[in-house]
Amino acid sequence: MSTVETTHMTAPPSTAYRIIDVPDPFRELIARHGVPGTFVGPSLQESPWVPFGANAAIRHLAFDVRNNRFSNVLWLKSPGVVGTHKHHGTVVMICLAGSVRYLEYDWVAGPGDFIYETPGLVHTLVSDHAEGVKLFGWLEGPIDFFDEQGRFVEQVDVWWFINHYETHCRAHGIPINKQLYL
Ligand SMILES: [Fe+2]
Repeated sequence: MSTVETTHMTAPPSTAYRIIDVPDPFRELIARHGVPGTFVGPSLQESPWVPFGANAAIRHLAFDVRNNRFSNVLWLKSPGVVGTHKHHGTVVMICLAGSVRYLEYDWVAGPGDFIYETPGLVHTLVSDHAEGVKLFGWLEGPIDFFDEQGRFVEQVDVWWFINHYETHCRAHGIPINKQLYL
């Protein structure tokens, strides 16, 4: 039986510490229609902590209105709950500090741990950690929230999160940071 010789790179082929010009047949199109990436630094002027209920805050990082996606850091400042909700899109999260778990699952996420949520999941986020939790998230909406009786209360999506950010900025004289809008 013959074998096929294949080679695969084990790391990028160039280690040149300089900008390399690469061929791109669509350079002009990308310049006209492409969406640049973004960068949001650590200062509260670039993105403030916006209160989310009495015990939590959200630091918004990105709003993608074309795909109903948004990114932020959720901070529960002490042990607490983010009420039962249902996802219609996917969520990618990394725990940055503290710990977090869901009443519906048997694991606890700590710093560096990865969480992936999929459309259709319904769950209740809690932190039992004395210092709460900080969670980086890349989320896709919409997300439906329910009260203690299981009654639908509100649906949140990228527009809800933009309004959450802009309302706080307007109230506190913080300039809107265009870098958050993809
Ligand atoms: Fe969730």
